[in-house]
Amino acid sequence: MNNNRRTVLASALAASIAVAAPMSAFAQKKIVMGFSQIGAESEWRTANTNSMKSAAAAAGIELKFSDAQQKQENQIKALRSFIAQKVDVIALTPVVESGWDTVLKEIKDAKIPLILMDRSVDSKDTSLYATHIGFDFVKQGEMAGQWLVERAKTMKGDINVVELQGTVGSAPAIDRKKGFEDAIKGNSNIKIIRSQTGDFTRAKGKEVMEAFLKAEGKKINVLYAHNDDMAIGAIQAIEEAGLKPAKDILVISVDGVKGAFEAMIAGKLNVSVECSPLLGPLVMATAKDIVAGKTVARRIIGKDGVYPMETAAKEFPSRQY
Ligand code: AHR
Repeated sequence: MNNNRRTVLASALAASIAVAAPMSAFAQKKIVMGFSQIGAESEWRTANTNSMKSAAAAAGIELKFSDAQQKQENQIKALRSFIAQKVDVIALTPVVESGWDTVLKEIKDAKIPLILMDRSVDSKDTSLYATHIGFDFVKQGEMAGQWLVERAKTMKGDINVVELQGTVGSAPAIDRKKGFEDAIKGNSNIKIIRSQTGDFTRAKGKEVMEAFLKAEGKKINVLYAHNDDMAIGAIQAIEEAGLKPAKDILVISVDGVKGAFEAMIAGKLNVSVECSPLLGPLVMATAKDIVAGKTVARRIIGKDGVYPMETAAKEFPSRQY
C-alpha cells in the first residue's frame, strides 16, 4: 500500500471513530446512582443493601454507596456530596421522617431525581421526590395486632403486652406502633403495659426486654417487637429469665428474615409479618425509567404477608433472605 492510500484510509478511520465515539459513548453512558443507606442495624438491612448492590450491578448502574451509621447528619453530608458529584439519580432511605426539606430542596434545585427507598419523609412538598418505593408500615402493624386479636380468643383474662419500638422518629416505628394499636383497640383486655425503643438492634432488644422483665416479671403475656432482630435479642432475655418464649410469653415481630424463621422452627417465636427487603431490582428499573424521562408511579408498595410459626418449616427452604 502506498503512503497516500495509507493516509486516506487512516483519515477515513479517524473520521469514522470521531463520528462513532460520541454516539456510542452516549448510547452506553452508565447511569450513576448515589445511594444513602441508613447503616447495618439488622439482618433485614444487610439483605436490603445486598439487594441494592447486586441489582445495580445486574442493571449496569454505577452505585455510589454511603453507609450513614444511623445518623441523619451523615445522610445529609452524603446527599450533598452526591449533588457535588452530579450523579444522575439519588436513592435515599431516610433514618427518621423529619428534617429533610432543606437538603431535598437542594437535590431538586440540582435537577437530580430522588427515589425514597423503604422509609419515607414527612415533607409536605411531595414534589421533592420522584417516587417512594417502600411499604405500608401501618398495615404491617395492623397485621401483627390482628394476629394477636385472633389468638386472644383462646386466652383468658387480661393480656399484657410489652412493645419494643424501632428507632425513635423513624417511619416504621411510628407506623407499626399505630397499626398495632388500631388493631387491638376494640379489645379492652389487651393492654400495652410498657413500650420503649430497642433501636431495631438485637443488643438493644435484649437489654430493653431484660428491663421489662425486671419491672413486670410474669405479668408479661406478649412481646410485640417492631422487627425480628429485637425479637431475637428479647428471646434470649426471656430464656435467661427462666421463661419459655412463644409459650410463657408470646412473641410477635416484623420482617420475616431467616433468623426469625429459624426461631419459629425452634418454637421460640410465634409469628413474623413479612416486609421484603429485596427492593433493589425495582429501584434500579425505576431509576432507568426516570432517567429515560418516563413517568413512574408516585408510590410503589413492596411485598408483605404474615408467617405464623406453623408455616415456618414449609416456607424456610424458599426464603431468600
Ligand atoms: O425500615 C425497615 C426496617 O428497618 C426493618 O423492619 C428493620 O429491620 C430495619 O432496620
